[in-house]
Amino acid sequence: MDAAVARLITGRLLSRPWPCYTPPMTWHFDLISPVYDRLLPAPDPQLWMELLRLPAGRLLDAGGGTGRVAWELRRLCRQVVVADFSHRMLLQARDKEGLQPVQADVARLPFPDHRFDRALVADALHHFPDQRGAMAELLRVLAPGGRLVIEEPDLTRLPVKAVALAEKAVLMRSHFLSAEGICTLAQSCGGRASIGRRGKFLVWIIVDKPGGGESAA
Ligand SMILES: C[S@@+](CC[C@H](N)C(=O)[O-])C[C@H]1O[C@@H](n2cnc3c(N)ncnc32)[C@H](O)[C@@H]1O
Repeated sequence: MDAAVARLITGRLLSRPWPCYTPPMTWHFDLISPVYDRLLPAPDPQLWMELLRLPAGRLLDAGGGTGRVAWELRRLCRQVVVADFSHRMLLQARDKEGLQPVQADVARLPFPDHRFDRALVADALHHFPDQRGAMAELLRVLAPGGRLVIEEPDLTRLPVKAVALAEKAVLMRSHFLSAEGICTLAQSCGGRASIGRRGKFLVWIIVDKPGGGESAA
């Protein structure tokens, strides 16, 4: 199929909600939690370390699931909290030494203002039902001068569009934003955002919270 036609079809299908029954939000992740870490590639700790400017004090992995990414960074931070609303994903995180799992909706985080020096969201923003609420909360709990790094599939790549369609087909309520769209959202919530890195299928967005001097590490 011609690439332009494929882009048009996937673009139209992805921009509309599919009118059918949708299962509870945590259903898919509860189901795959026991095998989740074996399905996903291991994260690159060096890349996260550079983008997040680690070592630092407190790190929040929001929508952190099994703690797959957080675990790789545990030695670079004083405290590592994994927040997720899937209890079963968090049971996997609980088994990983050095992680503190907290069951919570990212759009209503149970933490005081300025609690964390760093935060990350890996492959999860498109799953958040309230992305603006989540972004506002992440910036609220971040200390002035702190940094948030968001890793998302790069929807400009055709294979990623196919994955996004597959997620719709299994009734996930994913909503993908472009890297520029994520920057705009972060900026509208008071962050300073830029595209930190583009990989083959992933993109990393850096969001700095103004204030606090050079770094809140
Ligand atoms: C694809 S998994 C990514 C997990 C982990 N970040 C990783 O990269 O391995 C997406 C995670 O986001 C979580 N999630 C989705 N919406 C959420 C919300 N509103 N609040 C908290 N967690 C949420 C899901 O439960 C799931 O564990």
